[in-house]
Amino acid sequence: MRVATVVGARPQFVKAAAVSSVLRGSHTEILIHTGQHYDVRMSDVFFDELRIPEPDHHLGVGSGPHGKQTGEMLARIEHVLETDRFDIVLVYGDTNSTIAGALAAAKLHIPVAHVEAGLRSFNRRMPEEINRVVADHVADLLFCPTQVAVDNLINEGITRGVHLVGDVMLDTLRMQVERGLPSDRLLEQLDLRAHQYVLATIHRAENTDDPLRLASILTGLDALAEAVVLPLHPRTRAALDRHQLRPGNGHIRLVEPLSFAEMLAAEANARVIVTDSGGVQKEACWLGVPCVTVREETEWLETVESGWNVLVGTDERAIAAAVRSALPPALTLPHDAGSASERICSLLEACFG
Ligand code: UD1
Repeated sequence: MRVATVVGARPQFVKAAAVSSVLRGSHTEILIHTGQHYDVRMSDVFFDELRIPEPDHHLGVGSGPHGKQTGEMLARIEHVLETDRFDIVLVYGDTNSTIAGALAAAKLHIPVAHVEAGLRSFNRRMPEEINRVVADHVADLLFCPTQVAVDNLINEGITRGVHLVGDVMLDTLRMQVERGLPSDRLLEQLDLRAHQYVLATIHRAENTDDPLRLASILTGLDALAEAVVLPLHPRTRAALDRHQLRPGNGHIRLVEPLSFAEMLAAEANARVIVTDSGGVQKEACWLGVPCVTVREETEWLETVESGWNVLVGTDERAIAAAVRSALPPALTLPHDAGSASERICSLLEACFG
């Protein structure tokens, strides 16, 4: 098979790493990096650490408003797809790179496979929700991580090409845990004690772009008595400057974005994780750390139903109360047996091999 894989943003490097390592065992993969994320700590470190081969095409699109960014990607991906022959185009998740890759391929009548299909927040104000819905509706193969995702697709009338394969992020997590996590180095560097700090991440547009929501989250974190580590996504750093917000009481340590291994180490050693990221909610549960999600809804209902994750929105008192009282629940999150990446590759081979 000749597979074109489109990636562009940090979580896609994590997802593609697992599938790519299986795929490249027997097939040709052409990697297209849109350039949506371009800082060394947002892109290059992930390629190095996860041993992802250099992209064959780097489109250098960079940042911009949604229409401009997505439009540039669409045109440049189309050009690459037209100048070579591909059996299938693989897209991941729900970013602007996902929708651009899926649309470019579908218009050229190249089959589209969507990894992490079927997730829904049912909140159309999230750019990610639009991206997911469109990608799913043009995809020929839909690889779902959960039964909830399969059911969401059925409710939208999508039943052909739908496969429950499990979660590729769990494959990458396992791969990285086997290679080792830099826990001692990270804790020493950040002057932290294992299980005596809170790890926080905030980067969703709905939280960073609204100064009231962002201020409320920071006030909730500031109210805690223990250390809070907050690796800053460039969007969040820019928002703090723009809204002239600075965390107040010295408990919050702002640090540069972490690499994947550093992030897993920071998660695994935290007492509680506070996040608005989708991937971090799942990683928290897989690593056995209680999670407090600063959103009103989640695409990962299983994490909430198992008791590992609570949705608190952005009210400062609710955040502080949930973090203080967070305890590991009795139920464990069902772990996938086997590898989602291997299932995906077998299904691709059955269709195109
Ligand atoms: C994107 C995805 C989001 C995903 C997140 C993971 C969309 C609509 N959103 O959000 O679903 O959870 O990636 O991180 O696709 N910037 C830099 N350096 C970089 C990248 C971004 O400084 O390497 C800054 C720029 O100011 C840019 C802003 O961050 O405007 C936002 O970047 P963008 O890629 O548009 O969206 P994310 O917030 O990263």
